[in-house]
Amino acid sequence: MRVGGTPSCWRTLLFGGWEYISKMEITEYKPEYESAVIRLWEKCELTRPWNNPQLDIERKMKVNPELFLVGLIDGKVVASAMGGYEGHRGWVNYLAVESEYRRQGLAKLMMEAVEERLINMGCPKINVQVRSDNTDALQFYGKIGYNTEERISLGKRLIEDRNTER
Ligand SMILES: CC(C)(COP(=O)(O)OP(=O)(O)OC[C@H]1O[C@@H](n2cnc3c(N)ncnc32)[C@H](O)[C@@H]1OP(=O)(O)O)[C@@H](O)C(=O)NCCC(=O)NCCS
Repeated sequence: MRVGGTPSCWRTLLFGGWEYISKMEITEYKPEYESAVIRLWEKCELTRPWNNPQLDIERKMKVNPELFLVGLIDGKVVASAMGGYEGHRGWVNYLAVESEYRRQGLAKLMMEAVEERLINMGCPKINVQVRSDNTDALQFYGKIGYNTEERISLGKRLIEDRNTER
C-alpha cells in the first residue's frame, strides 16, 4: 500500500503509528543509553570517521546536557536529538529515528521537545546544518517549518579526534 503521500495524521490512524507517538517517552540522555544511542547513529549513518561519538557525547555532557534528548519506546532507544544553545542561536545535531519507526511523527516530536526547551532558555532562533545529499532530512525539516537559508557553512577542526583524512 502506498503511504508516501498520505499526511502523517491519517497514516497514524490507518497504520497504528499513533501507538508509537503515544508510547514514545522523551527524556534527557543518561550514560546507560550510550551504546544504544551510538548504535542508532551508526544505523542512521550519522557517524563520520573524523568524529568520535563517545567523545561527542562526553563533550555534550559538559555543555547544556539537558538539551540532549532520547526517545524511548518500551525502554528502547528509538530516537535522539542533540540540542545546543550558545547564547545567540539554538542548534540541533544527531537527530535520528530508527528506520522502522519513521514517518510516524517521532522526529517532529523530538524537535518540538528541543524547541520548547530552547524557547524556555530565551533562544530566539534555531539553526540546523544538513548535508546537501540528505534529501530525507531536507524534506523532513521543510515539512516542520524550517526554511533553506542561503549560507555557506564554514568549519575548522580544532581538535583531531581520529587520524582520518576528511
Ligand atoms: C530525518 C528523520 C529524522 C525523519 O524522521 P521521521 O520520524 O520519519 O519524521 P516524522 O515522521 O516526524 O516526519 C514529520 C514530517 O516530515 C515528513 N517526512 C519525514 N521524512 C520524510 C521524507 N524522507 N520524505 C518526505 N517527507 C518526510 C513526514 O511525512 C511528516 O510530514 P507530514 O506530517 O506532512 O506527513 C529520519 O528520516 C532519520 O532518522 N534519518 C536518518 C538520520 C538523519 O539524516 N538525520 C538528520 C541529520 S541532519
